[in-house]
Amino acid sequence: MTGGQPIKLGILVSGNGSNLQAIIDAIEAGGLDARIACVVSSTPGAFALTRASRHNIPVVIHENRGFTNRREYDAALVKILRDHGVELVILAGYMRILSEVMVTAFPNAIMNIHPALLPAFPGLHAQKQALDYGVRFSGCTVHFVDCGTDTGPIILQSVVPVEQDDTEESLSARIQKEEHRTYPEAVRLFCEGRIRLEGRHVRILP
Ligand code: GAR
Repeated sequence: MTGGQPIKLGILVSGNGSNLQAIIDAIEAGGLDARIACVVSSTPGAFALTRASRHNIPVVIHENRGFTNRREYDAALVKILRDHGVELVILAGYMRILSEVMVTAFPNAIMNIHPALLPAFPGLHAQKQALDYGVRFSGCTVHFVDCGTDTGPIILQSVVPVEQDDTEESLSARIQKEEHRTYPEAVRLFCEGRIRLEGRHVRILP
């Protein structure tokens, strides 16, 4: 919180890690008073791991091999995060659904970014869902994670237009640009102690 030690982040990834990079950049530019305690990847070859290593951030590869179910896998994940002193968990392109083991271990302290304006188009291929539906606007949503799929309290949303000739790739690129601005901003609000949860409503304190 403000004036104290930087909040320790644990960032979970599965792929490219451009949102991880946006958070690293915000911290290094002095715009975000947080420290990335560890990056945990569900995939060994994720480029996000290379990004983390370039910035000397500890990385852990946590595959699902050897675990019989999601709860067991998540219990081991909780241990990894606790061993690193993590206070806020950031899902950044993490392509696994969390069980209640993770959700209850970090109550109101897990954030996710989703490439659509929730509650529209939850789940996989959100940009394609938006194009197929024919919406004029889409965007991204940062929300707290609960036990549902993309159903938790909404922290911030950013809107982008959908153009007539958009492809999944062009819309995704436009949304990602907003993600890279919106996610560090949401993390900053948390780190400054400016997020208050009232039921499923998020109040941003001045
Ligand atoms: C992001 O666009 C994020 O919104 C999406 O995965 C991408 C990861 O990109 N997440 C989901 O679809 C989760 N349901 P990145 O690895 O470059 O940050």
